[in-house]
Amino acid sequence: MSSVVSSASPQNRVTRMLLIVILIGAGGMALSLWWFEESPAVGAASREYVSKVSTPPLSVSRPVIELANSTPEPAVNEPVPEPTVSEPTAEQTVDEPAVEKEPAKKKTKKKRSESRPVDCEKTKCVALTFDDGPGKHTAKLLKTLHKEKVPATFFVIGRHIEDYPDALRTMSKQGHEVASHTWSHDDLRQLSTKQIDKELKATAKAIKKETGTAPKLVRPPYGAFDSHVQKTLKKRDESAIMWNVDTLDWQHKNVKRTVKTAAGATNGSIILMHDVQETTVDAVPRIIKKLRKQGYTFVTVSDLLGDVKPGEVYYQR
Ligand code: NI
Repeated sequence: MSSVVSSASPQNRVTRMLLIVILIGAGGMALSLWWFEESPAVGAASREYVSKVSTPPLSVSRPVIELANSTPEPAVNEPVPEPTVSEPTAEQTVDEPAVEKEPAKKKTKKKRSESRPVDCEKTKCVALTFDDGPGKHTAKLLKTLHKEKVPATFFVIGRHIEDYPDALRTMSKQGHEVASHTWSHDDLRQLSTKQIDKELKATAKAIKKETGTAPKLVRPPYGAFDSHVQKTLKKRDESAIMWNVDTLDWQHKNVKRTVKTAAGATNGSIILMHDVQETTVDAVPRIIKKLRKQGYTFVTVSDLLGDVKPGEVYYQR
């Protein structure tokens, strides 16, 4: 041993030392790479980080009303809290190509297609509509709809909005459609053009203040309209939405009857109810269950009807 050491020149010794250092370094790197890949904690965390970085910010680009544009069934799997919203269709379509180029495309693509709007040409659709709110029972109804991932349309009375501004924000956030039921719930046929305009303008302003979107759909109180009302709506670029299933919930205030009538809806129906009635709010879980059993998908009125013409009156799809 001593002879080997002594025979080595100083340069040889330095070279040998360098080789040893390089070998140790290479071995250490290999070891740490192996550990990085195999260790569940570090590997998972790092992989997650990588995937986070490379995944497009999906939730950010989502419109706020996811529900409205989701297929009811798939929508069930969608986390509503990151709502999207309302007329996101075009946006989503536009986003699609960019998403496909990203590494996380498989997962992203699936999620996207599930949240596409329902095609009521191919699917049995119904629209639940609630008039005269927001009121003291609206929050409970919103909880039910949120739990069931069912989008609905609320025809709100303008002067009620300031008492329940949170209800409107929740409606919008959870993908419901907020539409107009005028400011003071008067028979529009008895009003002048100027007065009708004032009723609708004030309501639209209050809705926009809370939801960010002015309504295009109006349900005339008592379903009362004439050509003069229609003309005024047309000028405002708004349409009248009636119904073809009347639960008469406000009259009988009977849960069973409300469920039975609503469950008798047919494809393309617009169902009239009132969220100011406690019995109606209590009936909704059973209505949802019964209609789902019949294969119906719940959509907002705008999703049910698609493009509507200003001044026109709609009763169903
Ligand atoms: Ni009403």
